[in-house]
Amino acid sequence: MVRDKIRFLRRGRVVMYGSATPTRTVLDYLRLEEKSRGTKEGCNEGDCGACTVALGTLRDGRVIYEPVNACIMLMGQLHGKELVTVDDLADGGTLHPTQQSMVDRHGSQCGFCTPGFVMALFTLYHSGKKPARQDIVDHIAGNLCRCTGYRPIVDAARDACTGRAIDRWAKAEKETVRQLQALNDSGDIFVGTQERFLAVPAKAETLAQLAAEHPDATIVAGSTDVGLWITKQLRDLPKIIHTCGVAELHAITDTGDMLSLGAAATYSEAERHLSAIDPDVAEVLRRLGAKQVRASGTVGGNVANGSPIGDMPPMLIALGAALHLRHGNDMRKLAIEDFFIAYGKQDRKPGELVWCLDIPKLKRNEAFRAYKISTGGLPPRGLPMAGWRRHPSAQCVPKRRLPGHRLTRPRLGTPPSEPSYTISSRSPTCGPPPPIAWRRRKRWCTRR
Ligand SMILES: Cc1cc2nc3c(=O)[nH]c(=O)nc-3n(C[C@H](O)[C@H](O)[C@H](O)COP(=O)(O)OP(=O)(O)OC[C@H]3O[C@@H](n4cnc5c(N)ncnc54)[C@H](O)[C@@H]3O)c2cc1C
Ligand code: FES
Ligand code: FES
Repeated sequence: MVRDKIRFLRRGRVVMYGSATPTRTVLDYLRLEEKSRGTKEGCNEGDCGACTVALGTLRDGRVIYEPVNACIMLMGQLHGKELVTVDDLADGGTLHPTQQSMVDRHGSQCGFCTPGFVMALFTLYHSGKKPARQDIVDHIAGNLCRCTGYRPIVDAARDACTGRAIDRWAKAEKETVRQLQALNDSGDIFVGTQERFLAVPAKAETLAQLAAEHPDATIVAGSTDVGLWITKQLRDLPKIIHTCGVAELHAITDTGDMLSLGAAATYSEAERHLSAIDPDVAEVLRRLGAKQVRASGTVGGNVANGSPIGDMPPMLIALGAALHLRHGNDMRKLAIEDFFIAYGKQDRKPGELVWCLDIPKLKRNEAFRAYKISTGGLPPRGLPMAGWRRHPSAQCVPKRRLPGHRLTRPRLGTPPSEPSYTISSRSPTCGPPPPIAWRRRKRWCTRR
């Protein structure tokens, strides 16, 4: 079955949306079409969180609410989800607990960031856990406030998020689950014409076939890269094919010594599994974007994009990960480091899809380190990201960094009590390489 409208849940009702503008963002839909203007536009590039809305997704028979940036999210990504915005929260004259605690704790001054913060807190309120202070700080890291300061907002979060949700959404969960299950049937969506369309295939075969037939189409997973092509580069992308509707591409399989990750699995879906590989992976993921970016963005998109500043490839190369690519019915597999041919160039044919990633887990006595250095004074392309895996018997590090950066002067031995490296950038766009001498003394030889 092929439908010509996407369907999502809003205020308890199913919205059928069949606009022929494939690049319509959720923020523009809310403000320009629905006229719900509580959600604000700040940066329009996923950085400030003013546009944060909550997306309810069906997962293991429950509705999980996550904060996302409406400014870079495309309408196709709403299919089969529930959209909640700040305009929905108050019940008549009664504020939602997250709103009330912001009032009580004086968490708002000019108020421009407030709708975004409230929605981030709404998702934390529904997380089912009583968050510690650090959890709150991590959760709102993608929301910027320029006048109130963060302490009152963190206090408001501590008051409101008790681990027990008792609002309208909690009471309606059973009904919402039923409605979302009905929306997530196996129907493919195709809105528009052969020249201009948005497609949300539900079947893996439809997705592969469509991508092969339209090699000029833009593949969209979480849209945290593509969204900026639309809002900042003002690119017209006439053909959009979403991968998010294919359940197979969200699959995460753990075979004990290997993790297999579908290309549409978001960071938040994969975080628990990836973090179990090594604490350094967990720390890099904590610093990757912010909660909103991790709720939409995918590891597959990070790899497929081939950005020289992508954070996942250095770690994945160090771990020895492999990539499965699909073109029509043909599948091929290659080591992830062979996927990156040159600066900004990948070994991917037009119409070919990144299908899934195989990530080997660390063996006993293998050591792994990953570092994401965020420091002032460097241009974004000069910020180093590096990953190492070390075999216990090795005299040198077998796998190392990647895009834009080069390890020079590695001094390694066994056991290296004080390895020292200089990382330099070879990015042509970032000027002279900023040398960073960096010493690490502890915990090199043994796995924690
Ligand atoms: C505010 C903000 C902060 C960010 N911070 C970081 C950061 O700290 N570290 C970092 O590495 N990145 C960061 N990013 C970039 C981005 O979030 C990541 O690169 C993310 O992993 C991209 O995934 P996505 O699913 O959103 O990709 P999309 O934007 O959907 O797609 C990215 C590219 O991959 C292609 N693609 C996607 N899926 C497939 C597929 N299955 N087959 C073939 N091609 C495909 C698309 O066509 C496109 O070219 C940030 C982005 C934003 C907006
Ligand atoms: S407007 Fe800044 S994140 Fe969307
Ligand atoms: S209240 Fe003014 S920016 Fe946060």
